[in-house]
Amino acid sequence: MKILVIGGTGTIGQAVVHELSQRHTIITAGREHGDVRLDMTNKSSIEAMYKSVGKFDALIVTAGQVHFAPLTDMTDELYEIGLKNKLMGQVNLVLIGMKYINDGGSFTLTSGILSQEPLRLASSAAMVNGAVDSFVKTAAVEMPRGIRINVVSPTILAESVQKYGDAFQGFLPVPAAHVALAYSKSVEGAQTGQIYRVGYTS
Ligand SMILES: NC(=O)c1ccc[n+]([C@@H]2O[C@H](COP(=O)([O-])OP(=O)(O)OC[C@H]3O[C@@H](n4cnc5c(N)ncnc54)[C@H](OP(=O)(O)O)[C@@H]3O)[C@@H](O)[C@H]2O)c1
Repeated sequence: MKILVIGGTGTIGQAVVHELSQRHTIITAGREHGDVRLDMTNKSSIEAMYKSVGKFDALIVTAGQVHFAPLTDMTDELYEIGLKNKLMGQVNLVLIGMKYINDGGSFTLTSGILSQEPLRLASSAAMVNGAVDSFVKTAAVEMPRGIRINVVSPTILAESVQKYGDAFQGFLPVPAAHVALAYSKSVEGAQTGQIYRVGYTS
């Protein structure tokens, strides 16, 4: 399969590329790194990336920023960061990507545990993750041409503990290689409309 990984040079993305490159042709994409460049917050940039890559069999998104701050400091503008990046960035990659994806292809998006487990500073992450999960469930029932769509919702990664671990006390981190298996199941399996919750302990 020809598989496009948006964010393929990031923490989750690298593990996904490692897993899937053993069996498939991978094209990585990012804002500053990767085989091709795009800004997922910009629809023209998304369209240009798809034009340069051509037809493909699977799109995986392991990218999408949100802003972490106390609820009392959050503003429209700060919520807008997550809405533009992680939510509408992923949604637009699907909507525009439907013109380029082969029959029977698949989309796999990324959300995260924070929609299920409330944490301080994480209201934007919770809101966006929940929206991405809901989008995938409903998009799955309307996908044409046998196209599938799923989302991977990981807990904190072992590789990210140094960066975010202080906020995730009591959570059992999951290795990126385990998270990558959920992307493999989504792309190489037959399921659609699934939320793969990886590393949840309750
Ligand atoms: N790490 C965790 O513990 C964890 C747990 C649960 C959920 N998640 C979610 O998983 C996703 C990826 O997390 P991560 O930790 O792997 O992130 P990361 O290491 O920071 O990597 C982010 C990747 O996304 C790309 N990217 C960033 N902004 C972009 C844009 N506007 N357009 C296109 N590409 C862009 C980056 O490429 P460039 O460097 O080229 O910009 C990079 O390859 C995030 O949505 C995060 O919320 C992460």
